[in-house]
Amino acid sequence: MLANLFMNIIDAHNLACPIDGKSLEHIDKQFVCENGHTYDIARQGYVNLLPVQYKRSKEPGDSKVMVSARTQFLDTGVYQPIGAVVNELVLEQIINDKDVCIMDAGCGEGYYFNSLLNFLSDDSRETNLSLVGLDISKDAIIQSTKRNKRISWVVGTNRQPPVLEKSVDIILCMFGFLSIDAFSKLLKPGGKIILVEPASRHLQELRKIIYPEVRTKSLSVNNLLKDSGFSLLKTEALHYNVKLSSNDQINHLLVMTPHFYRASKEGREAACKLQEIDITIDVNFSVLQKTSDA
Ligand SMILES: C[S@@+](CC[C@H](N)C(=O)[O-])C[C@H]1O[C@@H](n2cnc3c(N)ncnc32)[C@H](O)[C@@H]1O
Repeated sequence: MLANLFMNIIDAHNLACPIDGKSLEHIDKQFVCENGHTYDIARQGYVNLLPVQYKRSKEPGDSKVMVSARTQFLDTGVYQPIGAVVNELVLEQIINDKDVCIMDAGCGEGYYFNSLLNFLSDDSRETNLSLVGLDISKDAIIQSTKRNKRISWVVGTNRQPPVLEKSVDIILCMFGFLSIDAFSKLLKPGGKIILVEPASRHLQELRKIIYPEVRTKSLSVNNLLKDSGFSLLKTEALHYNVKLSSNDQINHLLVMTPHFYRASKEGREAACKLQEIDITIDVNFSVLQKTSDA
């Protein structure tokens, strides 16, 4: 008989009750903790672990319009090279572990996590792999469920992720909200954060149109790491140019980025009328390793 030559994708068994932090057990169509708190699994297959007291607005996170714009833009493949770098970085971190849990913290509409799962599924290691896709936006998580049913999709916050302490091997934080203390608690000793951030020239051509003045300084990861209990293991940079050649594609990119909402009315109107534009993609990747508890 042939041995299983591929990674074994399993459901996440490390979800935690957002109220008391106890382990959640999957029973029928619910997750239940030992203190009797119950969370229904929605018909789309996700679970909402964001209690009302953790919400800072009625519908936190990206709106349905932003989520839809992001899906339409990402599906054109312009950011595919970013996903390819992340996939390789993750694979490098999975040595020969038997059980690996990866969390995408602020996973958006699931584009990158779906690409990662498809990439890792073909790997020949005998690893039990579970993936937790977490986002505070219910609309983003509903969209994510359409991309892949084998990922455990969860509505929740990066501030207090509903996941058991020391149960995660790798956390992806892509263009999102880094919550370094909370992430440290979730990671196993030696666990990693893969941080993906825009670098100074990212989308500079669009920014020149929508802002009167363009800032060119990007965040220094070294400042972030001071006294954090993490060390910088590796950095990588990706830089390329692409022509966006339809008004729809340009508008989807605008609507999915925070720039659109920060821009002046005139800047926004000028950008929305564009029929084509050459843009720079400029992205930094950092692999951080947990060296001590937060
Ligand atoms: C710029 S988008 C990036 C999405 C995805 N990582 C990507 O690159 O396509 C940021 C995401 O973070 C989510 N978000 C914002 N605050 C959050 C929080 N406190 N916890 C979890 N997700 C959050 C938003 O809903 C949104 O989906």
